[in-house]
Amino acid sequence: MSLPHTKLHPSFGAKLLDTDLREIEPNVIWKLLDLMDEHAVCAVPHRVPLTNEQHIHFSKMLGPIERSAKKIAGTSKRLPFDEIIDQSNLGPEGNIYKDGDRRLALKRANRLWHTDMSFYRIRGTYSVLSAHIVPPEGGNTELIDMRAVYRDLSDTMKKQLVNMSSEHCYWHSRTLGGGPSPLPEEKASRPPAIHPLVIENKRNRRKSLYLASHIRSIRGIEENQGAKLLEELNEFATQKKYILSYQWSVGDVLIWDNLATMHRATPFPDQKYVRDMRRTTCRESLN
Ligand SMILES: [Fe+2]
Repeated sequence: MSLPHTKLHPSFGAKLLDTDLREIEPNVIWKLLDLMDEHAVCAVPHRVPLTNEQHIHFSKMLGPIERSAKKIAGTSKRLPFDEIIDQSNLGPEGNIYKDGDRRLALKRANRLWHTDMSFYRIRGTYSVLSAHIVPPEGGNTELIDMRAVYRDLSDTMKKQLVNMSSEHCYWHSRTLGGGPSPLPEEKASRPPAIHPLVIENKRNRRKSLYLASHIRSIRGIEENQGAKLLEELNEFATQKKYILSYQWSVGDVLIWDNLATMHRATPFPDQKYVRDMRRTTCRESLN
């Protein structure tokens, strides 16, 4: 029997009704993974946010977990855990970053549609985002079901995309999102990665369009044509009917499958309010 849940959107997304991730037993994780295969996104409310240790402990049940993402110049850690990615607007001392701070500019690029860690050769699978402080306005997470997007593409487009791949680069999306140009050592620390544009979930065989603002180019076709194709695909994918907008409450945990969805953060007054969100990310195994 599946875990009790309600739906978040007509085509995808589940909200668990009676599950505490702190208490979930390893032998029922398969039920959650089944639910993720079906819904691609899962919200799990808690009265009190998970501690960092509980967050990491749970995430490790979902697969290999990313540790210590490569360092960006000038950053130091507010949260002393290699597994936790600090998605807040807070600096290492716990103060709101000032407007114009390079580190904040890099974070603001998360307002573009993307999938997590598609710029690595070993792609991100599940992201687990935990809400510690939420602003009173804005700061939703919006998600798109990329399986529904792929399903609705024309047969001509589907044929065109077979065997096509694209180049994902972290610095491309940072620059697109208004962030600073990378320093040479930063650029070298995150080289681009090549991935197919159409991917398939091996368990249920559902195909998905693998798009992200990290995509710098499409391989094997002329640059202008590639840019045009990307624009067309992005425009198609970001139609309102495909979007789930999740409004956070403190204690919520949102899990999404990066190989079936695309997401973005919506703006909020980040000089006025704190938004303290913490993420872990699972990666594909090396085998
Ligand atoms: Fe993200």
